[in-house]
Amino acid sequence: MARLISDDIVDRVRQATDIVSIVRETVQLKKAGAGMTGLCPFHREKTPSFHVNPEKQIFKCFGCGVGGDVFTFVMKTDGLGFGEALRHLAERANIQLPHREYDPAEKGEKARLYEVNAWAAESFHRCLVERPIGKAALDYLLGRGLTLDTLKLFRIGYAPDSWDALAKGGARKGYDEEVLTRAGLLSVSDQSDRRYDRFRNRIIFPIYDAQDRVIGFGARCLDGSEPKYLNSPETPLFSKGRTLYAIDRARTALREERKAIIVEGYMDAVMAHQHGARHVVGVLGTALSRDHVRVLRRFVDEAILLFDADNAGQSAASRSIDAFASEELAVRVAVIPDGLDPDEFLQQRGIESFDALIAAAEDGMTFKLKRAMADAPSATAPGAPVARALDDVLATVAQMPNPVARAQEVRKAAAATGLSERALSERLDVLRAQQERTRLRATAVSDEAPPPGRRAETELLLVMLQYPETVSMVRDHLRPDLLEDPSARLLIERACALSEAGSIGPADLLARTQEEELRAVAEALVAHPPVAVEHPARWCREILNGIEARALERRSREMQRVVATTTTQGAPADLDGALHARLASLREAQRKRGTLERKKEPVTQP
Ligand code: UTP
Ligand code: MN
Repeated sequence: MARLISDDIVDRVRQATDIVSIVRETVQLKKAGAGMTGLCPFHREKTPSFHVNPEKQIFKCFGCGVGGDVFTFVMKTDGLGFGEALRHLAERANIQLPHREYDPAEKGEKARLYEVNAWAAESFHRCLVERPIGKAALDYLLGRGLTLDTLKLFRIGYAPDSWDALAKGGARKGYDEEVLTRAGLLSVSDQSDRRYDRFRNRIIFPIYDAQDRVIGFGARCLDGSEPKYLNSPETPLFSKGRTLYAIDRARTALREERKAIIVEGYMDAVMAHQHGARHVVGVLGTALSRDHVRVLRRFVDEAILLFDADNAGQSAASRSIDAFASEELAVRVAVIPDGLDPDEFLQQRGIESFDALIAAAEDGMTFKLKRAMADAPSATAPGAPVARALDDVLATVAQMPNPVARAQEVRKAAAATGLSERALSERLDVLRAQQERTRLRATAVSDEAPPPGRRAETELLLVMLQYPETVSMVRDHLRPDLLEDPSARLLIERACALSEAGSIGPADLLARTQEEELRAVAEALVAHPPVAVEHPARWCREILNGIEARALERRSREMQRVVATTTTQGAPADLDGALHARLASLREAQRKRGTLERKKEPVTQP
């Protein structure tokens, strides 16, 4: 990714922005020493381990290890890219961004798709509420109990029964068929290359993200055709497995209530909001994923699943518990009586009954356990069916990261089944080991520990960030071409350039780093606990020596290989005496210094 925004602009925005006031919008901060502390918005905690350092303009959390500058904070809380975060902060600070500053990048693919989607949502909506062609659809929705205000609030619309109405409207706006197709609004025919409107004679539910942008559409048929709901395909903006319908409308209520009610349908979510339950979001007919839970965790402490009482709804609820277990978000399950769905229940019984249903929701693991045992013969009956039923429950427990939480669940399961805690724990251990093996196999290739060279380079960056006085040494003594890791190399070069220009702190380096992959490397270092060493300069020198030694070794090996392949009977043992001698002396020097003088001890203040 190229750097597209000039450093000048970034600096102006940075100077006009105070990290404390930005963080305050989402986190309650208290003074603590020279800094501020509060409950981390990126993971769930009861005691504050989230710190903001106003002097350095950085934040970090000692609980979950997240850290960075004010851009990182905005990017993470609002799910933005660097350019978008910059634009957001510039707007707040009343700084005009020259248009070209975000032109090719921001006005690129995604921005164009947002624009097209917003236009399409509005034209569907007008079609429903203003045009005669939408009359039947409007009558249908009003007949189902939605008010005109609700239809306007959710921008619900109607796609007329036409193969090209949208394409034609788009053409008038200057949106060609290409871009409409990429937005998922046109489909391409299998037989010919012809494109046609994807949504025809359907009620349209525009799907917004938490930043109020239209990312996709759900479309309900009016004539009994299949499928009942047709959703947008996966596009650069829309991914069904991550999206929560109505998150835009629910956002504020979620933060206030600290809990989310999750329903399965568009109609269910809209009807709940109409009845005043504004902390309701919908999953789009998919199982709840860990991605969903991560989004929710930013807003709430607890979720309540309100799924249909039919078997499909109940097993979806049961399956969804896993995502909550592994992401450590509390979850309860409410069962709707009499085969109603939330929409019908609300209309027939009203909001008080709805609230009572939510209040009576039972703990997710208890729900799962009961369901498993209901399917199995009595727990005291001998044999495999009970064990199999319990495996399902224990496999969920196994995903809980916290051993205390696991122990609690084992106790509950033992009490409910009359089996011994010991037997359940043993089985749990087996399942955990199995899951661990599967996980390792899945990540074996990607998750390797970094080779020692890369570790040294990261360590070097850490010294430079924590002890800025070492930067000049690095600048004078390190040849960047010796570095193996391109990310570390770029960051180290930038840090050196910055120190030449003046001071270097973590926030300075981050402000010079717009590439998201590179920011991730730097942010991890910003969040690293302080390393206390007596002689930072010596530590730095030691790493530099190590890097040089490894580079020499690499070069020597490379030369040996070249010689070995170019001579027929080469015995290149004495290939480069000088090189080997240098290598040996460097190694010796390192051994002598040892690691004795490096005392790493995490401290608790940033
Ligand atoms: P339901 O079939 O329960 O429909 O699907 P509903 O939401 O109650 O809608 P109404 O009341 O009949 O109008 C629940 C959810 O599953 C997804 C949709 O998100 C839907 O709201 N779904 C369902 C699909 O994505 N495709 C389908 O074909 C059906
Ligand atoms: Mn329904």
